[in-house]
Amino acid sequence: MSNQLEKLAKLPLRDNLRGIEPYGAPQLDVAVLLNVNENTHPLPEAVRQAIADDVADAATGLNRYPDREFTELRERLAAYLGHGLRPENLWAANGSNEVLQQILQAFGGPGRTVMSFPPTYSMYPLLASGTDTTYIAGERSEDFQLTAASAARQVTSAAPNIVILCSPNNPTGTALGLDVVEAVYEAGRASNSIVIVDEAYAEFALAGTESALTLIPGRERLIVTRTMSKAFALAGARLGYLAAAPEIADALRLVRLPYHLSAVTQATANAALKHVDALLATVEDIKGQRDRIVAELKRLGLTPAVSDSNFVFFGGLEHSGHVWQGLLDAGVLVRDVGIPGHLRVTAGTEAETTAFLEALEALVGGTARPAPGLEG
Ligand SMILES: Cc1ncc(COP(=O)(O)O)c(C=O)c1O
Repeated sequence: MSNQLEKLAKLPLRDNLRGIEPYGAPQLDVAVLLNVNENTHPLPEAVRQAIADDVADAATGLNRYPDREFTELRERLAAYLGHGLRPENLWAANGSNEVLQQILQAFGGPGRTVMSFPPTYSMYPLLASGTDTTYIAGERSEDFQLTAASAARQVTSAAPNIVILCSPNNPTGTALGLDVVEAVYEAGRASNSIVIVDEAYAEFALAGTESALTLIPGRERLIVTRTMSKAFALAGARLGYLAAAPEIADALRLVRLPYHLSAVTQATANAALKHVDALLATVEDIKGQRDRIVAELKRLGLTPAVSDSNFVFFGGLEHSGHVWQGLLDAGVLVRDVGIPGHLRVTAGTEAETTAFLEALEALVGGTARPAPGLEG
């Protein structure tokens, strides 16, 4: 045990935090960073300037606490989402991670459970530990799919207080059909379960993939979480949000810290939401690079999953750890999500994507066989 871990072990840490690892996606100084599903395009200059101007204005009022109800932001988020949602259906926090944490603080906690379906977003078990909520790992089929029948059966049997469905799912990238959300919501009726659909990557969905926002009317236990970290290219601003029945926001008011959204954060997000079209202009380009990655990986004989997101999860690697290291040596950082034979890569700019594909081909090109149907 390292010196620091020994010191930590002596502290009166809560038992359920002992021995667990903190969130730790590597932050390395590498030319091509494709490991945490950011939007790698820089902000358009006009938007950057608009944010800087509005933040400068907000700075004149920094001696006062910010609007605790972030009224303008909720209005702008409701207008962006549409679907008949009103400001009272919206809530926001510092990243959708904080939104999820607040939901677990309000509806989870000691003696309560939260269920999700691994492989899925690695923060869910950590948010469970942090809020002293017991984590239940549901199951997917061998090809990482989750059907309505299987999910509903598992929710009925586990009767969790909270279910988190990640759609599109991180790390696999594939969206769930709304039939899964509806089935889980119905299965959670007996246990009065809160059902969260984490749609962090919704803007990158393939044509025909529907958002769970359409299911909110009449479902007071359903919460859809979103973020400005991905499609909006604002990961550094830390702004996540949710849409749900207004009483969900009332519950979160009980656990949020006073004035949790700083005036600078509100000004940044509001300025960005005045320029939605300019900000989302990169989404089509990213989807194009994502589809290019999928096609090229198939050509290399690898097995990419269907992706509704800005990243691609792929298998078929003999030694994924070696390939991860080889890519890093070539200046490309991707994500090893701990599933043997698989890696996950974010779709970057055209140049970044080319760097990844060329480095990968140099590593596996000679050994991989074409996937069935893709010969020649
Ligand atoms: C599925 C999913 N949900 C939520 C988040 C958290 O995003 P943020 O806290 O930046 O809004 C991420 C980040 O990678 C994610 O992949």
